[in-house]
Amino acid sequence: MTADVNAAGHLTIGGCDVVSLAEMYGTPLYVYDEHTIREMCRAFVDGFASEYPDSHISYSSKAFATPALALILEDEHVGMDVVTGGELAVARAAEFPAADLNFHGNNKGLAELDEALDYGVGLITVDSMFEINLLDEAARMKGKTQQVLLRVSPSIDGHTHLLTSTGVLDQKFGFPIETGQAEEAVKHALSKANLDVAGIHFHLGSPLFELEPYTQAIPYVLEFVAQMREHGFNQRIFSPGGGFAIGYVSETPPPEVSDYAGAISASVQEACDRFGLDEPRLILEPGRAIVGRAGVALYSVGGIKDIPGVRKYVSVDGGMGDNIRPVLYGAGYSAVKANGLTEPVAGAVTIAGKYCESGDLLVKDAQLPSLDTGDLLAIAASGAYCLSMASNYNMSLRPAVVLVNDGEARLIRRRETYDDLLAQSIL
Ligand code: LLP
Repeated sequence: MTADVNAAGHLTIGGCDVVSLAEMYGTPLYVYDEHTIREMCRAFVDGFASEYPDSHISYSSKAFATPALALILEDEHVGMDVVTGGELAVARAAEFPAADLNFHGNNKGLAELDEALDYGVGLITVDSMFEINLLDEAARMKGKTQQVLLRVSPSIDGHTHLLTSTGVLDQKFGFPIETGQAEEAVKHALSKANLDVAGIHFHLGSPLFELEPYTQAIPYVLEFVAQMREHGFNQRIFSPGGGFAIGYVSETPPPEVSDYAGAISASVQEACDRFGLDEPRLILEPGRAIVGRAGVALYSVGGIKDIPGVRKYVSVDGGMGDNIRPVLYGAGYSAVKANGLTEPVAGAVTIAGKYCESGDLLVKDAQLPSLDTGDLLAIAASGAYCLSMASNYNMSLRPAVVLVNDGEARLIRRRETYDDLLAQSIL
């Protein structure tokens, strides 16, 4: 949102010249714009509140988890979803309010559930009979009653990549409604003395560029909720998950946040009216949409290989280790020459990573100005699921992260060192 060009023709973000940032912190470098993060938090908080007053935004921290971000979220009245003890540890490091945490995941371990109970997380979303039993027992041992949501699976296709599609019947998450297993789960959870079954959750997948999957799934699931009253179930909370899309490339623009808010809110209100339900507290779980656009990845150009009549490969100093998404999902990205933003396009190049795999390509056929070794490339919309899925493949070092705002840059994660890499190894 704050991207601009300065007199030198360099990309600036948050008032900082990214060429200077690259010199100061090295590359690959991930730059997060605090203004964009805050604006996206507000777009969700205000966008949903204006349509559905009793709504709450809970950031899905798997998109990018770091304590500095947790502090911003808290400041913006946004809660956090965590899916592991590790993500919970990030929240704890920022002393994030426990009541605003929701612990998700399809197979949480006893140690993780104990950590969540000890910290006092507001919600735990349970995903299996095994977990219902495990959590009830863990809560009983601690003399607590834990507020829970049950994750159901609505058999609705979100029309997204097979690997990130979670609403259909044949996938691992949630109790299927269609087969009667969700009903069994409601009855079983209600029978547990140390669980307070507050509501139902589903998540269709991500990113979802269409509104219809939400508006199809919501009435279907709320009808199920209404039927569950016969077992004594009284819904207070309803969560239709996350999955809100962002623009990666200009050909596929996402809906506005207000479009999602309007469609989802109206759908919940209509369905509650139709099935005679009280309107529940609505929880939304955006991950990508909060941080995706805020993050920009910077890479330095190294070797260039031009195969005449075939393709020009421009290799950079990062790749699938810091962004696996192009390889894993065929995800598209757009790149610019950050030290020559206004230069004319010279033709198509393929941006290749430095990892020892021929599939390690970041952007295929990017239209860019002429490039030389030492130039700086910026890849937009790199803030979600790049660093959080980063690896040390090829024993590479994961990048540093800076947070920029109003002309100031602050290091919020230092670049890894060889000592970090070797710290866990035992000779
Ligand atoms: N809630 C639940 C229960 C989820 O499983 C997810 C994402 C979200 C919310 C947030 O979805 P978002 O708003 O960020 O789309 N690695 C993939 C995305 C996997 C998402 C997994 N669950 C990617 O890079 O596209």
